[in-house]
Formats: sequence, structure tokens, C-alpha cells
Amino acid sequence: MSLFNVYPLYNIAPEKASGATVWDENGNAYLDFYGGHGVISIGHSHPIYVKHITEQVNKIGFYSNSIINPLQEKLANLLPKISEYPDYTLFLCNSGAEANENALKLASFHNGKSKVIAFKNSFHGRTSAAVAVTDNPKIVAPLNAQQKVIFCDLNDINAVKKEIAKGDISSVIIETIQGVGGLDEGNTEFFKELEKVCKESGVVLILDEIQCGYGRSGKFFAHQHHGIKADIISLAKGMGNGFPIGGILISPEFKPSYGLLGTTFGGNHLACAAALAVLEVFKNENILDNVKRQSSYFMKKFKSLPQIKKIKGRGLMLGLEFDFEVAELRKKLIYEKKIFTGNSNNKNLLRVLPPLSITQNEIDILFENLKSCLE
Ligand SMILES: Cc1ncc(COP(=O)(O)O)c(C=O)c1O
Repeated sequence: MSLFNVYPLYNIAPEKASGATVWDENGNAYLDFYGGHGVISIGHSHPIYVKHITEQVNKIGFYSNSIINPLQEKLANLLPKISEYPDYTLFLCNSGAEANENALKLASFHNGKSKVIAFKNSFHGRTSAAVAVTDNPKIVAPLNAQQKVIFCDLNDINAVKKEIAKGDISSVIIETIQGVGGLDEGNTEFFKELEKVCKESGVVLILDEIQCGYGRSGKFFAHQHHGIKADIISLAKGMGNGFPIGGILISPEFKPSYGLLGTTFGGNHLACAAALAVLEVFKNENILDNVKRQSSYFMKKFKSLPQIKKIKGRGLMLGLEFDFEVAELRKKLIYEKKIFTGNSNNKNLLRVLPPLSITQNEIDILFENLKSCLE
């Protein structure tokens, strides 16, 4: 038997990691400016993270959601406070796709409607039971019979208003900063109008902060740069620093009832221990301050490279845009310079998603190596 071959692979087998460094089986060290699709928030194998997970697995790793789990309660108490959504409740699941699926479902239960507005070039995960919201033709998007997704252009508030005026929209789902799509983002005027029209029409505003959230943009949630609030916020990736966990933060307008949502593994003891360790390190190490500091250092430094046409994104969710396709450059960075970076639907964009604990010295190493690749 072999693996179902769906991932194009780099010929590297990581064996060990610490901070922003990953070692392969031959002892080669790689600098990680990608974090496995923007997952690594506090750094690989952070000692506090390792300690909490190890201690937890020695006690209890898992039990179903039919018992009291104080770790879930601790997370549900901490997370809304840290994220400035103090009256929101938390539902825990296992991944980003699952978080969005629950968000869309909850919206439908809430207002009895099923149509969804999403935005061109967005990516909200792959599921088949409900909605895999994407307009990427390479990713098949099976829809359940009742759920239909309408794709609008980013920043085109009139198109959104026109659809909402028809009266059958349940929710709008949007990434504050598009990840896989290539780091385009709505402007503040658009987001404010979107918030307003959703509120006035009883449409649920779902902000997908799976990639851009959890500090990556320099604020806890990227939409906080625009001074707006969401009805539901979906989370995953950086939340567990590599341990699979996702969740949705839910406005008090939504009333829970037994069986409304559910999952076997969601919020298990180990996942909660990982998520709590992440928040502890955020606090201890002022991670958000580091994101802001390193981001402005990065921007200043990389602006000096004439081959870079544009730097997109915020915080440590960045994209370097060139006037050529970056696939070869990425390969060179990985195999010759031993640095991981990422790609996106925009083939000219080199994506940079380091651990949020990245240092100035590590940014300098990326800079020097990128510069030498471009010469
Ligand atoms: C914005 C966004 N939403 C949802 C997802 C899906 O998350 P997962 O792969 O954990 O299902 C991703 C994954 O890249 C993402 O970037």
C-alpha cells in the first residue's frame, strides 16, 4: 500500500525542529519562513508547549465531549478576553475547514436561510458534506443541495448589497487578508460597509481568521485593523502551533441547544493543552509586539531589493511580488539556501509566514540569501 498521492512533495523529511529551524534526517538545518502553511505561531517545539502537552498526555489525552473538560473552560474563558470579544462563546473543533463549516451551519440555523456570499480568490477549506467555499476551479467545490455560494469581487460593496437585497442570504464569509489567494484584502471602507449591511439585513458576518488571525497580522485578529466586529470568527492554524485544533467564536446573539453542533475529537484535552500553551507564550513573550517590530524591520529591509515590485500583507503574513513566476526561486531557496517559503494562487508572489517569534537575525539571513538568489 502507498499514500494516496495528492501532494507534490519537496524531497525533504524533517526530523526535528526548534524555534524557526527545522532539521532533516541528514542533520541539514532549514530556516522556516513558511511554518507549514502559516501554522507555527510560537515557534517549533517551544519548551512551554512541549511541557504542557507532555504533562497532559501523561494525565489524560482524550475523552469525548460528554464529560466536563476544565481545559476547554479555561480556553473559553481566556480566548474571548485576549481577542477583545469578551461576551462571545467558543465552540471547538479540529481544523479550519471544520470551523468554517460549523460557522456556515450555525448561520443557517440562526436565520433559516442558506445562501452564502464569498469573495473571488478566497479559500475557506475543503469539505464535501457541506460547502468547500472557493472559486478556484482546481479545487472541486461540492455543494449540498440547499447551500449555494455566490462569489463577489473583493471591495465591491455594491455587488454584495445587490445580492443581500434579494433577501435569501444567510451569511457572508470573508478572509480579512486572503492567504492562499495571494494576500489581497478588503479596505476599511469596504469592511465597515459590509459590517453595516450585514447587521441591517440580519445576514451573519463570518470572518475567516484561520490564517490571518491569532496575531499574525500584528493584532490578535486582522479585522481589528479595520475597527469592525464579526458575528462569528473562525480559527485554526496558529491556535495550536501545529497541534490540530480549530474553533469558532460566537456572538451572544446565537443561542446554543443540545446537539446543534458537535464533534468527537474537537476540544480534546491534548488539543486544549496545546492551545493554552500558545496563549501562555503569547503573553510571556509579548508575541504581538514581536510581530509588529519584526514586520516593520522586514518591510524596511526588503523594500531595498529592486527586484521586489510590491510587498503585500501585514504583520508576518507577507508576500513579495516579483515580475516573474517564483517557483524556481522557491526551489533555489529550499535546496540551495535551506530556507522554506510559500506560494499562492498568484504565481509571482513569494509567501512569507514565519513563526511569530522570528528574530531580526533570522530575517537578515532570509534577506541575504534571497538577495544572492536574485543576483
Ligand atoms: C483562510 C483559510 N481558511 C480555511 C482553511 C482550511 O483550513 P484546514 O486546512 O485546517 O482545513 C485555510 C487553510 O489553508 C485557510 O487558509
